[in-house]
Amino acid sequence: MTKQTPINYDVVSKHIASLNIPDLSKATIMEIVKVVDLIQEETGDKYIRMEMGVPGLKPEKIGTEAEIDALKRGVASMYPSIEGIPELKVETARFIKNFMNINIKPEGCVATTGSMQGGYAAFQAVSYMDKNKDTALFIDPGFPIQKQQFKVIGAKFTSFDVYNYRGDKLKEKLESVLSKGNINSIIFSNPNNPSWICLNDEELKIIGDLANKYDVIVIEDLAYFGMDFRKDGLATPGQAPYQPSVANYTDNWIMLISSSKVFSYAGQRMAVMAISDKLYNRSYPDLQERFGADKLGYTIVFRLLYSLSSGASHSAQFALAAMLKAASDGKFNFVEPVKEYGKRAKVMKKLFTKYGFDIIYDKDLDEDLADGFYFTIAYPGMNGGDLINNLLYYGVSAISLRGAGSDHVDGLRACVSQIAPAQFEDLEYRLKRFNEDYPI
Ligand SMILES: Cc1ncc(COP(=O)(O)O)c(C=O)c1O
Repeated sequence: MTKQTPINYDVVSKHIASLNIPDLSKATIMEIVKVVDLIQEETGDKYIRMEMGVPGLKPEKIGTEAEIDALKRGVASMYPSIEGIPELKVETARFIKNFMNINIKPEGCVATTGSMQGGYAAFQAVSYMDKNKDTALFIDPGFPIQKQQFKVIGAKFTSFDVYNYRGDKLKEKLESVLSKGNINSIIFSNPNNPSWICLNDEELKIIGDLANKYDVIVIEDLAYFGMDFRKDGLATPGQAPYQPSVANYTDNWIMLISSSKVFSYAGQRMAVMAISDKLYNRSYPDLQERFGADKLGYTIVFRLLYSLSSGASHSAQFALAAMLKAASDGKFNFVEPVKEYGKRAKVMKKLFTKYGFDIIYDKDLDEDLADGFYFTIAYPGMNGGDLINNLLYYGVSAISLRGAGSDHVDGLRACVSQIAPAQFEDLEYRLKRFNEDYPI
């Protein structure tokens, strides 16, 4: 007899089978997206879609208006400077000063086609800058596509799950890896995709001090800039609190600041990479052999970014420059709109825990984790692949944490951005049914 589940059992089974992936923890985001699209189409039922990290808010108007103006002025016909338009470079340096209290010259602020591209260029540079240091280190969990980028480049990386190494435990763990002498860079996002942990100043200082000691570059991915909603005032220019950063503790940093999430501007593929003043003009002789230039900043801009796309969309650069400027001028509180994600996460986490789920990454040391863009879930007695599979029958979709380098609990990443509050009632009903059908 066919099981009775909130979404038609046979339809869900058919589409899961069509994937031909016995363990759904190995499915990519796009495979889950495709299966859910097909089930929705056939059943007419709307899923609680938590698999994809896309913004769920309207794009920031200051950006779209500046971009429309730029297009009307005719910038579309002209190649932008590969480094980025001067307005964007100046406003990025100002933004970093105002909201991080870090000094950087506009020269080191470079336009990229999303942080995906900034990362790709930076990863290539660090992988070839020193023949003795051929391996990058990810502080996981992390953004799986960045590891895919390393595979495409053909460069080495290693990683560890930070879950058991928070606070001062991070020092010993990092040192055990760095002391081997083969590490060129340390990569992490903060707030973190997928776990939403936020490394604190003590931890960033450990990373910065060790980056100095072992002369490695820290690539700090700030895709969720200012989105630790536990802290008030992160969008107040020139005043503490600031977005925490490793740049307070080392000069060996490259930051990736994306417009996708914080300005809901993902569609325009616009970001900036900020390379510290010290690194921008630092010479790495091994770069010369591979790329024909030895300075790190010059190589990233005029060798790598030039080869990749010859710059970033001209009009979108005006958009990002305008948003950064409005923020620095105190005319645009960029955190306020995205606080919506924190509100959604708070309700959703309560519902999941009410019906037996555990939140895996739940603490930043002794502080409760912030409610934000993502959270992580596990269900007692069920591995990640089975959990994805079983939840699909209940109209809930999410992705495995395994591919993100999380190794201590086999669970899922849930993204709140696409879930409208009007769906909370459905979510509660479905989780309740799930819990009844899979009693703990
Ligand atoms: C940690 C992290 N880095 C980078 C990106 C990509 O940013 P962009 O859209 O600017 O390429 C994302 C997007 O989800 C992300 O979560």
